[in-house]
Amino acid sequence: MTYRELSAQALAEHDYDGFLTELEKSLTDGRRDPNEVVRDTLSEIYFGVVGPDRENFGVAARATLHSFDPRNITTEPEYYVDIDAKLYNQRKPIIWLWQMFDRSPLGQNSLFAHRFRRMLAPLIFRSVGENFKCWHFVEWSFGYNLSFGNNVVVHRYVLLDDRGGIDIGDNVSISDYANIYSHNHDIYDIHKVNTPPTRIGNGVRITYHATVLAGTQIGDHAMIGTGAVVTRDVEPHHIVVGIPAKTVKVKNT
Ligand SMILES: CC(C)(COP(=O)(O)OP(=O)(O)OC[C@H]1O[C@@H](n2cnc3c(N)ncnc32)[C@H](O)[C@@H]1OP(=O)(O)O)[C@@H](O)C(=O)NCCC(=O)NCCS
Repeated sequence: MTYRELSAQALAEHDYDGFLTELEKSLTDGRRDPNEVVRDTLSEIYFGVVGPDRENFGVAARATLHSFDPRNITTEPEYYVDIDAKLYNQRKPIIWLWQMFDRSPLGQNSLFAHRFRRMLAPLIFRSVGENFKCWHFVEWSFGYNLSFGNNVVVHRYVLLDDRGGIDIGDNVSISDYANIYSHNHDIYDIHKVNTPPTRIGNGVRITYHATVLAGTQIGDHAMIGTGAVVTRDVEPHHIVVGIPAKTVKVKNT
């Protein structure tokens, strides 16, 4: 997919670069606890200042300030019993920064936000290839079980549930509101969770509002039609639609 090249005014570009360089250094040079870096960064993004004078704040604002610190919050995946808490906690501050950044005015500025997410992605996911592009409000489960090949684009409101692992190949496009799962629950016992890994081949396009169920393998260059629910493996080059998804066409290449 080819996109238009867009940029901001020179002063804005200068400040965007400066912020990214400084933040990446603070998160990776080992000099500061990443929890504190995230707390201070979110405080600056939302309140315009690091360590504001709490005495003048109402209790709701103080509660918000506490929530900027990843040590004071929980996320849904932390409640799952199959979590590897050590692996998750290593990246939890960065995950929280990504999610809270997305909900800020700055997070809605795609010009900056693509660069911001591209910088954070290798600190969260199992692997990330070149040229990763991610739009806003994308969510995942653990992050450490999710890998992306080169030239992957993930659009708005996508859910990548990597509890059992999701492996995404090169040149994959995942459109708005698509869902990819790698866990399900036993039909008799909701507490029994299965986590079969899901694999998305090279050149696959998962189009808007499609759902890929846990443990399915999507062959290279396959295409999942709008609103499809994939319950079985998809052959390479096949275009599948419907619920359950069935082949309607086979692409030549
Ligand atoms: C799956 C898709 C690619 C098929 O496109 P196509 O090759 O032009 O196929 P057609 O429009 O000729 O449709 C073939 C048949 O499948 C049906 N069909 C097409 N898309 C369907 C869908 N998402 N769900 C159910 N049926 C669908 C058509 O009604 C048609 O059935 P018919 O032969 O009984 O009339 C397309 O419909 C689709 O879902 N596109 C998603 C939008 C998109 O491109 N997003 C890209 C974001 S990166």
